[in-house]
Amino acid sequence: MFKTRVTEILGIEYPIIAGGMMPLSTAEFAAAVSNAGGLGIIISANFTTASGLREEIRKAKSLTDKPIGVNINLFLREGAPWPNEEFIEVVIEEGIEAVETSGIRSPAEYIPRLREGNVKVMHKVTTVRHALSAEQAGADIVGIIGSEQGGAVGMDEVTTMVIIPAAVNALKVPVVAGGGIGDARGFVAALALGAEGVIIGTRFMATKECPVHPKFKEWMLRARENDTVILERSIRMTHRALKNRTADKVLEMEARGASLEELLPLIGGESTRKLFLEGELDAGIAHCGQIVGLINEIPTVKELIEGIVIEAKAIGKRLDSLGI
Ligand SMILES: Cc1cc2nc3c(=O)[nH]c(=O)nc-3n(C[C@H](O)[C@H](O)[C@H](O)COP(=O)(O)O)c2cc1C
Repeated sequence: MFKTRVTEILGIEYPIIAGGMMPLSTAEFAAAVSNAGGLGIIISANFTTASGLREEIRKAKSLTDKPIGVNINLFLREGAPWPNEEFIEVVIEEGIEAVETSGIRSPAEYIPRLREGNVKVMHKVTTVRHALSAEQAGADIVGIIGSEQGGAVGMDEVTTMVIIPAAVNALKVPVVAGGGIGDARGFVAALALGAEGVIIGTRFMATKECPVHPKFKEWMLRARENDTVILERSIRMTHRALKNRTADKVLEMEARGASLEELLPLIGGESTRKLFLEGELDAGIAHCGQIVGLINEIPTVKELIEGIVIEAKAIGKRLDSLGI
């Protein structure tokens, strides 16, 4: 059931990946996803030292015997405050099965070492051009994310409905689709577009195990599909977020040409942590995708994944009855 090249490569039951979400992708949350048959991901950039990441991986491995992924952050061109090379050695030593690389830099410099260490690599991008370059660099899987998503949207803002088949047409390696997927309808649609799996971020935030503050989960239940906005276009770092006071302020500052230095206190990691982990809903940028408008309950991760799988089969039958 649901066997694709992605389930084969990653050794998972269902082709459902919980995309890394800084600062929420902890060992406990990742293990919950993996235990439910998907692939849970720990974010290495939540740590400044290799030993911090090693401890987190060991915690996750003590909670599940299923495959676990680690995200390696390639968003900063230089001066990243985290030691990616050392993280990769830890990933290999601790027997991590898969790495999700994401960001503006190519994963090319890391792929040979990861392959040597028997780690599968999924590079996550928002354009076909970057997808092709990741394939050329040796990525096993390419994740393509449409602009509905809650993370870094990319400058082109192409929606999932278009970017997924465009990438499937261009690539030989399997494609995993993300952006606006949160239920069985989105899951089946992604498979219909030619993807062999899905990456889900926003929908996983509204689960019991996600360590985001309960006030944020309640906000998600109230939010509608038109309650998000794209920020940071002026500094070429587009992110989608729920509208709040900080989003209004950032947009206003961008409109009058504010510099990165001026924007940083509002868009920086510390204010985001305050918002997500302490529930101060106006404290920073509330990264969140448009699928938030379809979220009406807070299930466990297992209930969410099983619900998607069961309903996907029902959708398959309905489509079959239409002669498709
Ligand atoms: C709160 C939040 C934080 C995220 N942080 C990261 C991150 O640190 N690195 C990354 O590669 N993607 C990040 N993403 C993107 C997700 O991994 C995933 O690709 C995306 O959420 C999928 O689209 P969706 O939100 O429509 O499900 C984040 C997304 C959200 C909602």
